[in-house]
Order: sequence, then C-alpha cells, then structure tokens
Amino acid sequence: MSRFLITGGAGYIGSHTAKLLSRAGHEAVTYDNLSRGHRDLVRWGPLIEGDIRDTTLMCEALRWFKPDAVIHFAAFAYVGESVAQPGIYYDNNVAGSLSLLRAMMMAGTQNLVVSSTCATYGQPKNMPITEETPQEPLNPYGQSKLMMEQMCSDFSSAHGFHYMALRYFNACGCDPEGETGERHDPEPHLIPRALMAANGEIDRLDIFGADYQTPDGTCIRDYIHVSDLATAHMAAALHLMNGGASGALNLGTGRGISVREIIEATARVTGKPVPHHFAPRRAGDPAILVAATAKANAILDWKARHSGIDYIISTAWKWHQNESRQIRS
Ligand SMILES: NC(=O)c1ccc[n+]([C@@H]2O[C@H](COP(=O)([O-])OP(=O)(O)OC[C@H]3O[C@@H](n4cnc5c(N)ncnc54)[C@H](O)[C@@H]3O)[C@@H](O)[C@H]2O)c1
Repeated sequence: MSRFLITGGAGYIGSHTAKLLSRAGHEAVTYDNLSRGHRDLVRWGPLIEGDIRDTTLMCEALRWFKPDAVIHFAAFAYVGESVAQPGIYYDNNVAGSLSLLRAMMMAGTQNLVVSSTCATYGQPKNMPITEETPQEPLNPYGQSKLMMEQMCSDFSSAHGFHYMALRYFNACGCDPEGETGERHDPEPHLIPRALMAANGEIDRLDIFGADYQTPDGTCIRDYIHVSDLATAHMAAALHLMNGGASGALNLGTGRGISVREIIEATARVTGKPVPHHFAPRRAGDPAILVAATAKANAILDWKARHSGIDYIISTAWKWHQNESRQIRS
C-alpha cells in the first residue's frame, strides 16, 4: 500500500483518481481549498482544507502524511476565463505550483505527477500531436501549464526529484458506478452541455464553427474517459516510485471525434434530440487536436480502455440524471 496526496482531489478528475487509488488499496489524502471543488466528492480518504499557495500549510500536510507521491490537479482550467483574467491563472496555476514545489523540497517529498494539457501545444500543423511537437500555447491557461511543466523540469534538474507531466486531451465521462462526476459551474465542456440541451436545461447547444477543413465541417477532438485518466495517474506515480525517468506524456486515445458526432452520439444514448445552433468560429480554436499515444502506452504500460464515445456519454448521462434529480428534490 502506498500513500498519495492529491491536490484538487475535490474536483472532477481528482475525485475519480482518489476513488481508483483507494479501490486499489492505497491511501489517498485530498488537499483542496474547495474554491471550485465539492466537499461531498471527497469520499475516498480525508480532506485537508487548504490552498496550495499556502506553502507552510502545504509543507505541514506533507510532513504529517509523508506521501510516496503527490498528484497535483489543483488549478483553474477555463480557457476563456484565462483570457479575461490572466492574473488569477498565473497566480493559481504558476505561483500555486511553485509553492507546492517549494513545500515538497522542504518536506523531502520526491515524486510528483502534474496535470498538464493539450492546450500547451496551441495550434500544431501536424497530427497526431507527439510529445516532441513544439509547445506554443495560445492563451494564458495553456501558458500557465507550460510554465508549470518548465518549473518541474528545472526543480528536477536542480534538486533531483522526479516528476511526470500528463498532457490530457479532452477529459470526459463520469464514474461508471455513478459515485462521482463532473460538476463545474459554469460548465463549458461540450458533452455535459449537450446533455443539458437534451434534458431541456438550456435552450440549445452552441456549436462554434461548421466551416472547418474537417469531413463534416466541425472541430475534431480526442475524448478520453476520466477513468482512463485516473488509471494513467496511478501508473505514472508508481512508475516514478519505482525509479522511472521524469518527463511528459500525452493522454488521449489517438482517435478524433467531431462535434457533430458528439451530438449524434448524445441523441443516440439519451434517446432525446439535442437542440443546437451553429455559431461563428471562436478565436484560437484549432480544427483538429488528436494525441499520439505510443509514448504513454509504452512507458506506463497503459491504454485508454473506457473511451468509446457511446460509453463515455452513457456514464456522463447517468451522473447528469442523478445530479438533476437531486437539484429538483
Ligand atoms: N477537465 C479537462 O478537460 C482538463 C483537460 C486538461 C487538463 N486538465 C487539468 O486537470 C486538472 C483538474 O481539472 P478538473 O476538470 O478536475 O478541474 P476541477 O475544477 O473540477 O478541479 C480542480 C480542483 O482544484 C481545487 N483548487 C483550485 N485551486 C486551488 C488552490 N489554490 N488550492 C487548493 N485547491 C485548489 C478546486 O477547488 C477543485 O476542487 C486541472 O489542473 C486542469 O487544468 C483538465
């Protein structure tokens, strides 16, 4: 049994990872300030309520729990918000990660897995995107994650600790058993918004651009189930704990799905039409983002196994219906 401290464990991907670690017989402590997370999603280990920018408290938590590895999800993660308010992104995602790195150095914690993103690549010319594709982010969110990766690399060179940056493509789906899921406010992600439209909670789903150079004119993304992300985090932490090399890995399926295909799949799974409307393109939205996955497959001995699109949407739909019922009652 190993011990993991999860920053941001009260959020979407962090809570799924806490569940997986606990089910695998490990001990998981969540460290979260609940700014965007939810106390009731911390169900698989204790919660330390604190901010990653509070280096003293972070260090005390590490000295008390003595984790074998830290898994760092805590961040702000909305592209549009980062363009409007870059300061809060550099503060939370960059200064927050720096504070965590300092606390880890003070406490002697050796292994760190961090959440990075395909947004660090910007708008690459060639698909699929490999880990060697130049990282040229188009917005402060992607930039803040690239800076976090750079800090990890510099701290690793200077202080000899081990890290793995996991660059996720589109995280989606929910716990198949319906015990945790996606609860963002506002909710910017496509699949939950498509479900909201199918369920009559919003009038329609806005689709930004139908004139891209793609087979059906809409954007293509690589959708990876949150349970597959959780498995990859556990594998990455164990890889570091077993002396594996530091670095960065893409987490995706290698398969692109268009916005129109998501709408069709949502209608198929829910049995309801998805009212939608075609709006102009959004600035900075690349036509296609698809991951090359060979490196993560090889280094972590990991593969996306739950990422068929109907399965993804059915797990999200199960969670969504449950949440809607609770709000109504
Ligand atoms: N959701 C995606 O599609 C996606 C894609 C790529 C990368 N990521 C990254 O994955 C991570 C998790 O994303 P998510 O969708 O689960 O987000 P989320 O908002 O659901 O969870 C983030 C959690 O971090 C906590 N937090 C934020 N700032 C904090 C701070 N200063 N101190 C302590 N806790 C703090 C929040 O309260 C929340 O519980 C983020 O780092 C995000 O950038 C997400």
